[in-house]
Amino acid sequence: MNARPLILAPLRGVTIRAFRATFAGPIREAGFTEAMTPFIAATPGYDPLKDRELKGAAEVPRSDADLALTPQFIGKDPAALRTALERIRDAGYATADLNCGCPFPMVRSKGRGSGLLRTPDVLRRLLEVGCATMGDGKFSIKARLGVERPDELLRLMPFVNEFPLRFLTVHARTARQMYAGACDRAAFDAIVRAARVPVVANGDLAPGDDVAGAAGTMVGRAFIRALGARDDIGVLLDAYVAASSAELCGAQPVLGRLKELLSYWKDTLRWRRRWQVAKTARSLAELKVW
Ligand SMILES: Cc1cc2nc3c(=O)[nH]c(=O)nc-3n(C[C@H](O)[C@H](O)[C@H](O)COP(=O)(O)O)c2cc1C
Repeated sequence: MNARPLILAPLRGVTIRAFRATFAGPIREAGFTEAMTPFIAATPGYDPLKDRELKGAAEVPRSDADLALTPQFIGKDPAALRTALERIRDAGYATADLNCGCPFPMVRSKGRGSGLLRTPDVLRRLLEVGCATMGDGKFSIKARLGVERPDELLRLMPFVNEFPLRFLTVHARTARQMYAGACDRAAFDAIVRAARVPVVANGDLAPGDDVAGAAGTMVGRAFIRALGARDDIGVLLDAYVAASSAELCGAQPVLGRLKELLSYWKDTLRWRRRWQVAKTARSLAELKVW
């Protein structure tokens, strides 16, 4: 692992492959050392190399414009995880991550994402498979503090510590909190104290932030929000529209993708009125408020 990596957070629908390629300049300027893909399903019969996140990766193994890339998987089936990891490992990816944090009730009630914190036996099997397939120090997990309570992950640390993980990323909220409310820094510190694996800090951090005891930081929304203030944002958005139009079928999905990004800026003076126009746009011409 890099000395103190700064990792671009996986944000499904936002920090996707086309985004990482289009915004590679700002990503590098902000000091990111690697990116994690939004989650890819590790389910029987699904080939991760056919997923839009990794498709065509044979041409650009392991990286988007020099940024090391870690594919992230979501699932609860050890055999399916093994198959998915073998596929990406054999295609040249050196690292992989398991999502133990997705808070959505539909996901967690099925025992995936943060639901894995409630099924330690399944989590243990997935960690065994992940570390064995990727190798020591090549497999990581990303988790919440807990589902309902901020000490659930802490209670799992004795067995998590048994594995040669690359790192454990902790988003310092419970799943119940979703993305609202304050991060619980005291609960994060308790995990750092209990951990024998490197801990990466996540949740409401900005690229320059240094978190005591953390082996690295992962940043998502603060970076996305800051993009809206750039002088060259119009040029970047034009490029994002072009990249998205080349990849998606028809204008509607492109509009959806762009609106998702623009929504991060809706509370700023520069974008407030533009957002009012953009959010109801039904064509790319109407959307172009920059
Ligand atoms: C729209 C959205 C999509 C997300 N998708 C994922 C995902 O695919 N995998 C994951 O582990 N976390 C996902 N997250 C959580 C983020 O990676 C991160 O943990 C969270 O946003 C807190 O970090 P931040 O405050 O720096 O954004 C998502 C968050 C948002 C807001």
